[in-house]
Amino acid sequence: MTMRSKLMLGNWKMNGSLADNASLVSELLAGMAGVHCHAAVCVPTAYLAQLQNLLAGSALELGAQDVSAHESGPFTGEVSAKMLQDFAVRYCIVGHSERRRYHAESDALVATKAQRALAAGITPVVCVGESLAEREAGQTERVVKRQLAAVIHANGHCISEIVVAYEPVWAIGTGLTATPEQAQQVHAVLRAQLQAATAHADRVSILYGGSMSAATSADLLAQPDVDGGLIGAAALKASDFLALLETASR
Ligand code: 13P
Repeated sequence: MTMRSKLMLGNWKMNGSLADNASLVSELLAGMAGVHCHAAVCVPTAYLAQLQNLLAGSALELGAQDVSAHESGPFTGEVSAKMLQDFAVRYCIVGHSERRRYHAESDALVATKAQRALAAGITPVVCVGESLAEREAGQTERVVKRQLAAVIHANGHCISEIVVAYEPVWAIGTGLTATPEQAQQVHAVLRAQLQAATAHADRVSILYGGSMSAATSADLLAQPDVDGGLIGAAALKASDFLALLETASR
């Protein structure tokens, strides 16, 4: 048996407004009584200050969706780990498939971003996952191991401080959730890879992401190496997200 308690992260992606965020968070906080898992929302950078205020003193923690690979300087538009620290950010997603795809983020860049977050005391949530073509070509394990290997290589013994999120690209925003068996199979591969790198691999939470819903979450979360979820669409509706948090609290 492991000692990991479940971790559920909402990824708001590029959604929200000052008004919508305020009402979503007030509904969430009003419904947290039965929630005993760890939970956070990863919000657009523009709303970090608002969310820091809204979440102050609550059980819901704050996350960001990306961080610069640079410390500071002439990098127009980028946001550093130190800046995230100013808003008491606890988690930062790195290497989301949307960033790998639309911003050509390489494994090495993602590894550096994880390093920057760790150096600022922020837990990087390292996303890995194969495309449909890669799965069909039988390359799933090779792809996720390559993606994680870069982060392990760059971060040495700090690797036990990261969170990993397995997000099969074909499952994101498609309604095609991986089966519990498919998820567990990949999570076990990732766990073994972490075990080869650190004596504390049991501490690393490995989250599943991709069309996770209240209907699919219980069986996924029951898998031995599925330690929580990274939730997109269902994190934008208070009742949906709360249902997921309740499932993870059982
Ligand atoms: P969906 O839950 O909308 O499929 O998104 C998953 C995701 O990409 C979370 O980072």
